[in-house]
Amino acid sequence: MLGAETTARANVNVALVKYWGKRDSALNLPATGSISLTLDGLGVEATCAFGAESDRCIIDGDAAAGPDADRVLRFVDMVRTEARVDARARVETRSSVPKGVGLASSAAAFASLAAAVSRAAGMRLEAPALSELARRGSGSAARSIFGGFVEWHRGERADGRDSIAEPLLAPGDWDVRMVVAVTSTARKAVSSGEGMRRAATSPLYPAWVETAERDLAEARRAIAARDLDAVGLVAEHSALKMHAIGLAARPPLLYWRGATVDCIHRVWALREEGVRGWVTIDAGPQVKVLCDPGDAGRIAAALRELPGVERVLTCGPGGGVEVGA
Ligand code: PMV
Repeated sequence: MLGAETTARANVNVALVKYWGKRDSALNLPATGSISLTLDGLGVEATCAFGAESDRCIIDGDAAAGPDADRVLRFVDMVRTEARVDARARVETRSSVPKGVGLASSAAAFASLAAAVSRAAGMRLEAPALSELARRGSGSAARSIFGGFVEWHRGERADGRDSIAEPLLAPGDWDVRMVVAVTSTARKAVSSGEGMRRAATSPLYPAWVETAERDLAEARRAIAARDLDAVGLVAEHSALKMHAIGLAARPPLLYWRGATVDCIHRVWALREEGVRGWVTIDAGPQVKVLCDPGDAGRIAAALRELPGVERVLTCGPGGGVEVGA
């Protein structure tokens, strides 16, 4: 018989200082720290109950099989081992990230799964322990445990106990916007895991690791001072540096499409006109623009006009993981 169900919700986050490369791939320990913004309205809800006849995974309403379900069930297995539970589980995830938007929701998925599965297994984990657990599902999920501006520490320990995230500013502490321009909805050709493996072949990779602490310090200071220009400049620098690594990797890696480049130039042109927006790009062709709430409408309208931009969303700072029926 199925035991009590537990449901949890978490939001996606976008890194301002990127995580790109691992010091331990089994534990998802990052080569460098990273800093992100959790977004409002783009999230995943996970439900888990133990006591099923066999492990079952349902993703967005459909019984799932294949790599996505395997990854979820491997995560459930890991929690089961930690909680010393034998029972089979029924796990369900539902994403509110619009389908076909091409925004990876794995950070929100593993943050909500960490909370729902651990609670259903009888564990009562505080936020730092949840962050550590979520990290093992997907590195960036460590940050989605918290809302607002968040730092995920690289940590020094081999067991990863100190590689957890912590909040820098709560979502209500500083109102900013992230405008997301969707330039392609095709499933990404190169996963972030494969991208990070290729990055390690790039002669630019040592420079990435060497300069990370400086970028983090700059972003931390700018966030504490609520200095949007300074946060924007370091975020844009971190993203472009991350993508530069890929160009020099073997085999090479370029996530951008033509429309990605057009969005960058449009945002830079708007900046010349006094608009306060800065670009960041993850392991895909979408362009995200960190901006002042007063400029979000103008940026969204300008990007919407570009050929190849399929849709534009605007998000504010979102909250951390929530557990509840
Ligand atoms: O958490 P992963 O393994 O999907 O990696 C995320 C990598 C980036 O999104 C490109 C950067 C980041 O810090 O989120």
